Amino acid sequence: MASARLFYFLSPRLSKKTSFRRAFSISSHRLQSCMSAWVIDQYGTHAVLRYTEDITTPAVSSPTDVHVKVYATSLNPLDLAMRGGYGAKLLKLRRDPFSLGDSSAFPLVLGRDVSGVVVDCGSKVAHFAPGDEVWAAVPPWKQGSLAEFITLSEYEVSHKPQSVSHTEAASIPYVANTALSALVNAGGLCAETAPNKRVLITGASGGVGTFSIQLLKAWGAHVTVTCSQNAEGLVRGLGVDEVVDYTAGDVHEQLQAMDRFDMILDNVGGETEQWALDLLKPWSGSKYVTLVSPLLSSTDHSGLLSGSIQAGCTLHNKALQNMLSSGVFYRWGFYAPDGPALDEVRTLVDSGKILPVVEAEFPFTQVPQAFLKLEQGHARGKTVVRVTDEEGSQADALKESDPSRTEDAEVQGAVGQQ
Ligand SMILES: NC(=O)c1ccc[n+]([C@@H]2O[C@H](COP(=O)([O-])OP(=O)(O)OC[C@H]3O[C@@H](n4cnc5c(N)ncnc54)[C@H](OP(=O)(O)O)[C@@H]3O)[C@@H](O)[C@H]2O)c1
Repeated sequence: MASARLFYFLSPRLSKKTSFRRAFSISSHRLQSCMSAWVIDQYGTHAVLRYTEDITTPAVSSPTDVHVKVYATSLNPLDLAMRGGYGAKLLKLRRDPFSLGDSSAFPLVLGRDVSGVVVDCGSKVAHFAPGDEVWAAVPPWKQGSLAEFITLSEYEVSHKPQSVSHTEAASIPYVANTALSALVNAGGLCAETAPNKRVLITGASGGVGTFSIQLLKAWGAHVTVTCSQNAEGLVRGLGVDEVVDYTAGDVHEQLQAMDRFDMILDNVGGETEQWALDLLKPWSGSKYVTLVSPLLSSTDHSGLLSGSIQAGCTLHNKALQNMLSSGVFYRWGFYAPDGPALDEVRTLVDSGKILPVVEAEFPFTQVPQAFLKLEQGHARGKTVVRVTDEEGSQADALKESDPSRTEDAEVQGAVGQQ
């Protein structure tokens, strides 16, 4: 399915370009105190997802806030993890460092990507105005984008690429900010340093991998990936140089037969770490960056102080051991909110160098089904949720389809049966 989608993206784009600034009335949104959203009221599995029309609409509360009407969002493995309580302690500390406010995380709105339209701005916002089409990745400590509206800081927001729809745009920000943080901040690569560097990406067929491949190819790197055999067409279509099927025999052995790498971006973690580091060029500044670190799970299990110390010691020991034994850098990569970085990505998308890889799309009424898709794993790019259709809100469609419905629980039940 993803390959077909990719073919669609590779074909000349149907010009559905919207004007950069739309005529947009903000008064009605300022008056709207409640909005539709999918929330959780406790951590758990699939059953905790609840549709509501009674959650308070976030407002502009700081001079740098940008209030956005959400048109589309996408799901990431982090949404599944956060639904189960992953990172709860550290994120609570980030939300309310001095425990001054209401410390409850609930009702919690998941969703870390947004493509939408600005409806209101704080007094000091300089780069955005109502009507601007924007995209952003939502920091994990903020309320998410499975909702009609979201409020972000100006720094987190960027103007959306004009050449793609909201649905396509929503597939990119979170994986782009993560990949850039890992490749640039931790990996030391950029457009100037990447040409001809040999980079290995493990787990390359998912959201972060499909974005990272395209970014590295746009920068001129030589890219080798590991993925399942049935993802080979997808990753080759994105420009990969060498593909290793991790389901066909010993992946380490296959990679050892190749030249050594300047950098490894590890999207798989676990046992990969035990064999991957000796694939790097020794004593030449090469870097291993894993996105699968134990920091948040460590603070979840052992508490903030003890968990952070344990994770810090683990990182320190591994970094020291690898540096002393073979002169390679061992690092953890993390998502970092960064609107200006998305400005750079916008240029690459609008010039056709980076394509959205959307594997599946769901309407706002089918968020539970979108989560089920994510839970199945084996992602080939991203799963996107359309929150608002061009013709109008899908929440309105929900109301119209069942005018007798009066309680949130009825919606949850109805959607769950679809
Ligand atoms: N630290 C951070 O801030 C941060 C930020 C973003 C993501 N992450 C983490 O980074 C990882 C990747 O994220 P993502 O969004 O790209 O996940 P994703 O969309 O779920 O993609 C994971 C991909 O890896 C493939 N895969 C699974 N096992 C594999 C193996 N042993 N070898 C090669 N490929 C394998 C999967 O397909 P098949 O199973 O079909 O092979 C899938 O295509 C996740 O663990 C995520 O939690 C961390």
